[in-house]
Amino acid sequence: MSYLKINNNNLISEVIIDRPQALNAMNPDVIAEFLEVIENVISDANTGTIIITGSGDKAFIAGADIKAMQKMNSDEALNYGRAGQRLTVMIESSPKPVIAAVNGFALGGGCELAMACHMRIVSENASFGQPEVKLGLLPGWGGTQRLPKIVGVGNAIELITTGKIINAEESYRIGLANKICSSDQLMFESRKLASTILKNGPKAISSSLRCINAGLMMDIEKGMEIEVEEFSELFRHEERMEGLTAFIEKRDPKFRQ
Ligand code: CAA
Repeated sequence: MSYLKINNNNLISEVIIDRPQALNAMNPDVIAEFLEVIENVISDANTGTIIITGSGDKAFIAGADIKAMQKMNSDEALNYGRAGQRLTVMIESSPKPVIAAVNGFALGGGCELAMACHMRIVSENASFGQPEVKLGLLPGWGGTQRLPKIVGVGNAIELITTGKIINAEESYRIGLANKICSSDQLMFESRKLASTILKNGPKAISSSLRCINAGLMMDIEKGMEIEVEEFSELFRHEERMEGLTAFIEKRDPKFRQ
């Protein structure tokens, strides 16, 4: 059974979680397929940016699969947790920008998956939350680590310990969402953002992502060292000559064929 759909147009790959009857909740099979799809999409030469969204108009992803977890023992939960974490790390460390187009509930593992994406465009009916404590669990796919970095420690602790669900406006206020738009504009806005990014140098973009991700894990001196190394490394590539020359010649740069 296939749980994911993929569309590719104009260097934008769209990955759609297609399990609407369970509000796109991710059981172990969905995660296994997702890992394979993301790996393939990232290495595809026809992909410059990636958009992840959910099928239907109700949910992005309603989380890890509660029915599957009810049957798991601790060892199985360890594997399930590790698989979900592997997926979020793969998305986060993609050299090609990943946009979450959040079209409804992004709860538990759904919120965690959205946070692993580099940016989040959300529809007016989107909602976010880490309701795991209500189930006697904690966020197991990176939520305790990424949420404080995105929204600050106080907001993260409040969200995780209350398990409360916040609407699109609140998610924007605390910096979880980059932009809110109407449901019918969600894919248009996400593709517009992807197209804007695609006009820029692909190596410069992937180096920037690498520096930002690395910097979040280390002190500023080490982060700055990585930044200056990546900066100088870009001078080895034709891409920067095109960018600098285009500016001087007063024309648009042409970074891709
Ligand atoms: N797992 C499995 N099935 C789920 C699901 C989930 N996370 N969320 C929804 N579904 C299923 C429901 O069981 C239901 O299926 P049935 O018709 O077979 O009963 C179907 O999707 C539709 O859901 P509802 O009838 O509940 O829809 P609703 O509109 O009344 O409510 C909702 C929507 C508020 C999102 C509610 O479904 C809900 O609270 N879902 C659970 C959200 C949640 O707690 N997520 C966190 C999971 S734990 C986790 O993610 C751990 C981790 O960090 C790794």
